[in-house]
Amino acid sequence: MLKNDLFLKALKGETLERPPVWMMRQAGRYLPDFMTLKAKYDFFTRCQTPELATKITIMPIDQIGPDAAILFSDILVVLQAMQIPVEMKDGIGPWIPDPIRSTEDVGQSIVPDIHEHLGYVLDAVKMTKQALNERVPLIGFAGSPWTLLCYAVQGQGSKNFDIAKGFCFSQPDAAHSLLQKITDTTIAYLKEKVKAGVDAVQIFDSWGGLLSPEDYQIFSWPYIQQIVTALKNKAPVIVFGKGCWFALNEMGRSGASALGVDWTCSARNARYLSGGQITLQGNFDPSRLLSPIPKIKKDVHDMISEFGKDKYIVNLGHGILPNIPVDHAKAFVDAVKEYTP
Ligand code: CP3
Repeated sequence: MLKNDLFLKALKGETLERPPVWMMRQAGRYLPDFMTLKAKYDFFTRCQTPELATKITIMPIDQIGPDAAILFSDILVVLQAMQIPVEMKDGIGPWIPDPIRSTEDVGQSIVPDIHEHLGYVLDAVKMTKQALNERVPLIGFAGSPWTLLCYAVQGQGSKNFDIAKGFCFSQPDAAHSLLQKITDTTIAYLKEKVKAGVDAVQIFDSWGGLLSPEDYQIFSWPYIQQIVTALKNKAPVIVFGKGCWFALNEMGRSGASALGVDWTCSARNARYLSGGQITLQGNFDPSRLLSPIPKIKKDVHDMISEFGKDKYIVNLGHGILPNIPVDHAKAFVDAVKEYTP
């Protein structure tokens, strides 16, 4: 039995004394202990070694005290499993040496057996669940098919993912074939993560907001919907689409348990657009954690009042930045615990 189930209760829409809180990318570069491990082991070694992934996942739980843990891993491990090699280069970030640019390239990627190619993630889930010892729930995650296509085709991070978009618009059949392969892999992957013990899953559509609302309905949303439909009876699903406020209506009717929103959408608009019934998660501007601590606390309390304490999970509007002082991250979490209506 979980000792702290606020997060799971909020996903069910239950009335609570205060909303739960966690932070996207909470296990990351702003933590000194993380940097110590980063200096010793390269990125994918950290992902592939269950002991390291477990240790990193638990760091913020011990040091900051959020109401949920998110497994340390990366959305790009799914591409690796599909036989699309990915490296993490210092100063550049994700690097795909042979990006996908044609139907033949798509044909060479596989829909992998999850135990064979991503067994190390499942081992990390099991080990982390044991180490957490029921303190807080564990979130598993995957990138959206569109966001993974962005990296697979562009070959690296980008401000506008122009090559990836060009691929979709000039070779739509190849693009849809890749998106479907990623979707099939992701569904199998998330189902195995749930079997291994994660209590909820989040889909990160970090680059959905680069598409027009019409193109979002062609290249991103139908694939996310397939994932939600396949997973919703197995575990609660959270859909986070950065810059995707225009799709909150479909998302609200998708069967997801909660929707992530970024800071460019007000609480009132997010409630209105999503239909007013579904749990929302967000949406503190990560840069706002650079404000003085009393201001962070005031802004968090205002944010809770605006979203309402129920059907709400406090979070940032995107991942925490590496330059955030640890005591400011902790103040964010503490402010939620100190909240009184
Ligand atoms: O919340 C957590 O702490 C869990 C871990 C997590 C990571 N990546 C660890 C990581 C999660 C949930 C992700 C998801 C992820 N990865 C996304 C979606 C979320 C988002 O922020 O939009 C995306 C787009 C990626 C791809 C990726 N991986 C990028 C763009 C980068 C940053 C590259 C850079 O150098 O700035 C990574 C690397 C990465 N993933 C790091 C961490 C902690 C930093 C690099 C390192 O530790 O060596």
